[in-house]
Amino acid sequence: MSDVPLANWNGQELPLDEVLVPATDRAFLFGDAVYEGLRTYAGRIWLCDEHMARLQRSLGEMRIECDVDRLRQRMQTTLEHSGYRDAFIYVQVTRGCAPRTHWFPVEPTTPNELIYVQQIEADPYAEFRQKGAAVMTHDDIRWERRDIKSVNLLGNCLAAQAAREAGCQEAILVTAEGRLTEGSHTNLFGVKDGQVLTSPTGHHILPGITRRLVLNLAERAEVPVIQEAITTANLGTIDELFLTGTTTEVLPVTRVDGTPVGDGTPGAITHLLYDTYQTAVREWLQSNG
Ligand code: PDD
Repeated sequence: MSDVPLANWNGQELPLDEVLVPATDRAFLFGDAVYEGLRTYAGRIWLCDEHMARLQRSLGEMRIECDVDRLRQRMQTTLEHSGYRDAFIYVQVTRGCAPRTHWFPVEPTTPNELIYVQQIEADPYAEFRQKGAAVMTHDDIRWERRDIKSVNLLGNCLAAQAAREAGCQEAILVTAEGRLTEGSHTNLFGVKDGQVLTSPTGHHILPGITRRLVLNLAERAEVPVIQEAITTANLGTIDELFLTGTTTEVLPVTRVDGTPVGDGTPGAITHLLYDTYQTAVREWLQSNG
């Protein structure tokens, strides 16, 4: 087992640092590609059907043709060959290589398919699970189809970098109308008067796989949910905040722009949802033998 992620590039298995992408690939030139980020627990791919369905949808919206079932098999084989138990799996499908034109290539192209499997050595958020994360707000300067999981992530990267420079763990993106959409790479939830709040799905956010799971877990735990965005106007009245994502899982947020959220410690409903998330993983692992 090596530290370099194990990749599969168009069916060929090799270390990630040996993958060479042609300069005419449209992902390289235009960001013309879609992707998924998945994770494993104990060597099994978590919420695989859901991620593959979202990939299929992103491909459809971009009109890129690709056999998702074949990718899925390839992902499974690459994971097995990596030997990793806890891993992050990246899957990207580009429109392929063609002479540079803004419109889609006139001649049919063959999508370039990249998979890589990277070991998760330790929980990158361990420190913040107890004390909570600090976030900053940032203008949401992204394009208007954030529901497509495209590799065009400049707006997200700029916000994430600003957060990092401010000593924060995540940037919360805010529209011109004052709605908090989501994080640069996570979905955002709030709790107000015992009710969970989160942005509804639509073109303005990524429909997170973890977001959907957490909504289901909240329902099962009989915690009321309203799919409504937190706003800059009501942010000060929010009792708890947390982030969700594939590697983030459920992460409490205790400071926004330096101001404590609620009493400044992770909230009870956040704890409850984190625990039910971990229970769901455990039960799934047991049910898979
Ligand atoms: N990010 N919102 C955005 C903008 C994201 O990029 C992500 C995931 C999420 C959370 O979605 P999910 O629960 O399906 O992971 C929300 C991935 C992991 C990434 O870009 O690496």
